[in-house]
Amino acid sequence: MLKLLPLAALAAASPAYAQQQPVPADRIASATSPDGQITVTLAIDNEGRPNYWVTKAGKPIIAQSALGFILSDAPKLHRRFRIENRTTLSRNSTWEQPWGEWQNVRDNHVELKVRLKETTALARVMDITFRIFDDGVGFRYEIPDQPGLKTVNITDELTEFAVAEDGDAWWTPGGEWNRYEYPYNRTPISGVGTAHTPVTVRFKDGTHIAFHEASLVDYSAMWMRRVEGTKFRAHLSPAAKGPKVVRNAPFTTPWRTMRIASSAPDLYMSQLELNLNEPNKLGDVSWYKPSKYVGVWWELHLEKTTWNRERLGATTANVKRYIDFAAKHGFTGVLVEGWNIGWDSDWFGNGDAFDFATPVPEFDMAELSRYATARGVRIVGHHETGGSASHYEKQAERAYAYARKHNIGTVKSGYVADAGGLRRIGPDGKLMFEWHDGQFASNHHLNIVRTAAKHRVAVNPHEPIKDTGLRRTYPNWVTREGARGQEYNAWGEPFNSVSHDVDIIFTRMLSGPFDYTPGILSLVGRDNRPLNSTLAKQLAHYVTIYSPEQMAADLPENYERYPEAFQFIKDVPADWSDTIVLNGEVGEFATIVRKERGGDGWYLGAVTDQTARRSRVTLDFLDAGRNYTAEIYRDGDDADYRTDKRHSIRIERRTVKKGDTLDLRLAPGGGAAVRMVPTR
Ligand code: NOJ
Ligand code: CA
Repeated sequence: MLKLLPLAALAAASPAYAQQQPVPADRIASATSPDGQITVTLAIDNEGRPNYWVTKAGKPIIAQSALGFILSDAPKLHRRFRIENRTTLSRNSTWEQPWGEWQNVRDNHVELKVRLKETTALARVMDITFRIFDDGVGFRYEIPDQPGLKTVNITDELTEFAVAEDGDAWWTPGGEWNRYEYPYNRTPISGVGTAHTPVTVRFKDGTHIAFHEASLVDYSAMWMRRVEGTKFRAHLSPAAKGPKVVRNAPFTTPWRTMRIASSAPDLYMSQLELNLNEPNKLGDVSWYKPSKYVGVWWELHLEKTTWNRERLGATTANVKRYIDFAAKHGFTGVLVEGWNIGWDSDWFGNGDAFDFATPVPEFDMAELSRYATARGVRIVGHHETGGSASHYEKQAERAYAYARKHNIGTVKSGYVADAGGLRRIGPDGKLMFEWHDGQFASNHHLNIVRTAAKHRVAVNPHEPIKDTGLRRTYPNWVTREGARGQEYNAWGEPFNSVSHDVDIIFTRMLSGPFDYTPGILSLVGRDNRPLNSTLAKQLAHYVTIYSPEQMAADLPENYERYPEAFQFIKDVPADWSDTIVLNGEVGEFATIVRKERGGDGWYLGAVTDQTARRSRVTLDFLDAGRNYTAEIYRDGDDADYRTDKRHSIRIERRTVKKGDTLDLRLAPGGGAAVRMVPTR
């Protein structure tokens, strides 16, 4: 539905915090969200500089913030602008996700598009489009086709986010060697350095804002650099050489987004970034089905076996053992790492020896593909690139044809190299080193995604570029890493902290699915060093850490030691029609329920940090007039992640119905998982 609105009120006066002088009507444009709460205003100051600000129910959220670009071969796009025209319209529609946390997504927003034109002889034109939702704002630049601006060489953006007050912030550092794999910092907003997005902040009155971006295509990722006080500026990820972004007009930038909510659960429930991405470009993607997988993986990280041929994990016999285990317990995928040529001693940061269509002699691909298929299982492919992106791109067509030929439906890839160490062969044939989230990387990933889609294969990159909602446009880009995963708990240097899996819920998880690889029921890493978790919390992760590809990461023999807890992992789906966050505070705790896609079952996951808590939830989401059997997996009364009671678990069954309450005690470092299915 598309309808034209009368121009939003062109307030002659603007908020005192934003401008000293009232702004004349021809220098200001504004629009308000469908529910009338969030207002965005764009105004031109006395030097012709465009600025914007955001309020919610009259309260400042973003104070006066600059817009524009620094160009490497032309004057900045920053001042001496006037508003040439503006349009406002509203859209209200619902679209469907082929898989995901929600089946139906509502897109209800007001759009304000402002055309700015320079008053100088250059007379360059730049459009700024805002989309204002009830739960936040997105805006992007558009450089139209015009005589004075053909190739746009962007040194950096001048986009600012002047957060209107100080408060708490949760963030990871941007531009550091370990890419996105850092523990979360909690500091005052005025204590943030340079951060990757999503960055989550909270004001004293409980207003939560999550800054991120949507539809990062053919552009460099945005980091947020604090310039002073609580003011941030977009800092684009660097290019190996030259401007950070080079584009030919016409083009649009990614959307700069802010979810704005009055609680952490409401922040999570927003679908702002998905709504700001283009609809599905792949057509029918019913060939992809969310799945749970096991595989030759944790044993590698525990150093029981190796990726290389010394103590190879990827032998035909070992993989058959995993296929048998998967078939017996209802898993549909078996990941195999180390199956291919190239795992020499020097692959970290240099994957030029990798071949993605040639197995090592010990791994019989044809036989394993046949053996798996006969048992209703598929091999999950693995393409570790060691960061040699161009080398991978050259092989991609062959690699994905090979995967398809062997009934591989999902490929996990990897870009193990320090940040700034992606190998690219430039147009001149020379080697250069790019960032994992620069313009080159954003194009590289989409090239791989499109090639994979041609062969009906889904992708799951590790050490990836961050998620900006492109799964809507390319639904075979199903999940990724892009945060500290379970692997740190194998290495133990250092372990993920007891709050890491809670920290990510209202931060990293706002960007999209995460292949965390949960389910370490043994609760030990290398040399039997204990994880910062209880057993019940490992189960809760299947609900609290969303991914349509969900691993049961532990060794088969460990699952056989905990058959009762393992039952939850066997039962829990990987695809949902609905998701509700029942409670939560950033970095402290969360309780999430999800309804299985194509069924009536509901699954609950609750997690806490080091603090023991009760999660009391009302089962309002169940269908009225129906009884459900609740299978409750909760921490034992003596469970504690710091003691030898971390395995203490109580498994109970109860009949529940809509309106009942569940009172779940979460141990220090603990959690709970509940399966609720209609009683037959
Ligand atoms: C890092 C990935 O995160 C991990 O899952 C994988 O096993 C190694 N790279 C090797 O590819
Ligand atoms: Ca990794």
